[in-house]
Amino acid sequence: MKVLVVGSGGREHALTWKLLQSPKVERIYCAPGNGGIGKIAECIPIDVTDFKGLIHFAQKKKIDLTVVGPELPLTEGIVDRFQEKGLKIFGPNQKAAEIEGSKVFAKDFMAKYRIPTAQYRSFTDPEKTVQYINQQSTPLVLKADGLAAGKGVLVCHSRAEAYEGIDRIMRERDFGNAGSRLVVEEFLTGEEASILTVTDGEDMVLLPAAQDHKAIFEGDKGPNTGGMGAYAPATVIDQKLLEIIKQKILLPTIQGMKEEGRPYKGVLYVGLMITKAGPKVLEYNCRFGDPEIQAILPLLRSDLIDLLLASVEGNISKVAPKIKHESAVCVVMASGGYPGAYEKDKVIKGLGQIDKSIIVFHAGTKIKGDNIMTSGGRVIGVTALGQTIRAAIDRVYKNVGKITFDGAYYRKDIGYRALSRQITKY
Ligand code: AMP
Ligand code: GLY
Repeated sequence: MKVLVVGSGGREHALTWKLLQSPKVERIYCAPGNGGIGKIAECIPIDVTDFKGLIHFAQKKKIDLTVVGPELPLTEGIVDRFQEKGLKIFGPNQKAAEIEGSKVFAKDFMAKYRIPTAQYRSFTDPEKTVQYINQQSTPLVLKADGLAAGKGVLVCHSRAEAYEGIDRIMRERDFGNAGSRLVVEEFLTGEEASILTVTDGEDMVLLPAAQDHKAIFEGDKGPNTGGMGAYAPATVIDQKLLEIIKQKILLPTIQGMKEEGRPYKGVLYVGLMITKAGPKVLEYNCRFGDPEIQAILPLLRSDLIDLLLASVEGNISKVAPKIKHESAVCVVMASGGYPGAYEKDKVIKGLGQIDKSIIVFHAGTKIKGDNIMTSGGRVIGVTALGQTIRAAIDRVYKNVGKITFDGAYYRKDIGYRALSRQITKY
């Protein structure tokens, strides 16, 4: 098969890496790809929202399956456009992808189908939002309705912070049209987890639960990022809890989307807060999580293409992926200053020195002559496996230190919550 992967991050590198292990995959292209993907597949300079260009390429190269990484093309309808041309593509269509594309839609959907989530109200008028906030206690959470590259969620510890947030999102439109509607949400406490399922709209397959580390600094301090590291399986989710999540959240979501006339195919990523009152949905994403997938895919023993095809073709109930009984930890190396302003074009050194068992996924990198250079905020994800989470953490940090570039920054505590649970076997 010939496969086209759409995207340019660590997630797309991980997808390409895993798909290349399939005996069924003869060739992979990636649009637009990055410096690491360019070493294992052919990168083509087509933007992820240039649907005409992507369709033309898929037709010309007789692509058998297109796999979409990021949310933007999904919410803009890439799946619908490919399907109109009779091209096979993995992911939700535009109406289904709204589950990530609009927080108001997602919250109203959860309310309608009684899926546990934080209490909320949605607004279009800043004055009315302020009036509502004046009656609420803090902390509370503001969420811009539309896509905002992971930055549209503000946890406000005081009313003053909330007023400022309303100004930024609704009046100054820091996130553009994404801020025309706003969700004000109850602040939840607990531990977070990411559950990724692959579904065909009827049934689903669960991937190992993962835990992301969204904040930039150790101890989960500082502003949120796209994710500074992840591990899987997330030990906060045991079998009993997983069954509750399945029955109360995942299956009702898939069933509800079907009832709404938006049958959901592709990856459904549910961001959860495990509260004292049980698991509650923080957000839905319509794609693989990044960096979560950089820890999850190395644990997948089975052929990824079978799973993706089963979602597209509607026979997910027939696949049962095999998972390694190990732990995986991914540490993200970022450019100094990220998630704020940062410099690019720094030479990355030491990639040749890391142990053979370590997997390096590139995100913001590009090839320039003989060098691999930085070209983004999140630069590289380094993943190690181990029989225990402790072993995986030790192995990953032994190697992360060998990779250097000017201003490189990474968190040194990825996986700390799992260690504190003192589970010795994964
Ligand atoms: P989201 O993009 O909705 O997942 O939000 C990004 C991050 O903001 C989450 O991973 C949480 O850390 C935090 N967050 C979002 N909603 C809430 C909430 N209701 N209570 C507490 N923290 C939240
Ligand atoms: N790591 C969080 C996300 O992919 O949205």
